[in-house]
Amino acid sequence: MDYAERELTLVLIKPDGLKNSITGYILSQLSGFHTGLHFAAAKIVAVSEMLASEHYAEHRGKSFFPPVVEYLMGKAHYPKDPAARRVVALVYQGPQAVTKIREVCGPTNPHVAREQKPGTIRSLGTLVDVLDKDGKTVDKRMDNLIHASSGIPDAEREIKLWFKPNDIPPLMNIYPVSESAEFYFFKEGKLLKAYEAGAVRLTAPGDIVWASDYEALKALDAGKTPAVSLESVAAKYLINHA
Ligand code: RTP
Ligand code: MG
Repeated sequence: MDYAERELTLVLIKPDGLKNSITGYILSQLSGFHTGLHFAAAKIVAVSEMLASEHYAEHRGKSFFPPVVEYLMGKAHYPKDPAARRVVALVYQGPQAVTKIREVCGPTNPHVAREQKPGTIRSLGTLVDVLDKDGKTVDKRMDNLIHASSGIPDAEREIKLWFKPNDIPPLMNIYPVSESAEFYFFKEGKLLKAYEAGAVRLTAPGDIVWASDYEALKALDAGKTPAVSLESVAAKYLINHA
């Protein structure tokens, strides 16, 4: 099977999708019967600020960045119930996976989706006023139920952010991997080579890791600037970490 037939894309069922109990409906709409695509990975994630910020890194500095990070973390929909703050993270595979899933999702803005693409998943979403501390409306938050990678490079970046190589069946993986020869740990935003109390292990010798992550860790360790941030490497190892 060639590379184009094994295209991968990331889907997140956002907290409003879970709160409205439409996870099953979304999975049906994305299923092989409708899209011709196959599951390549799945997990339930309590989203940290680091993971949400890295996921939406392209939007850093925009007015909707803080509310969209809070939204993905589940704070907007479960302000009083931290245990309920979760997303469903999925990887789908097949020809034109990115385009096919974006089509089923529909336009970013649920009101536009309702007007222009009724029947898409996001046509079931809503817009919510974002208020400042005085209660004045300063923006609209788009509660659009689902995230889908918007292009092939984004899909690769996002899948490597949310998943480890061994979360994906080896015959479905299309991204280069490396065997780690090193211990690497993460603590308080820093990379460590030896364990300290409170550090989280990123790799041990023999672990299979994304080749691009391993290059970044080695570059940081050598005092060079890595091609991707330490946070984007570490976030997946901190998922659901107590
Ligand atoms: P997503 O990344 O969540 O799949 O959405 P998208 O590609 O269709 O749209 P994108 O431009 O990447 O925006 C990411 C998320 O930020 C929120 N947003 N708010 N207030 C605004 O103008 C605005 N623009 C975007 C939405 O929740 C969107 O899904
Ligand atoms: Mg996007």
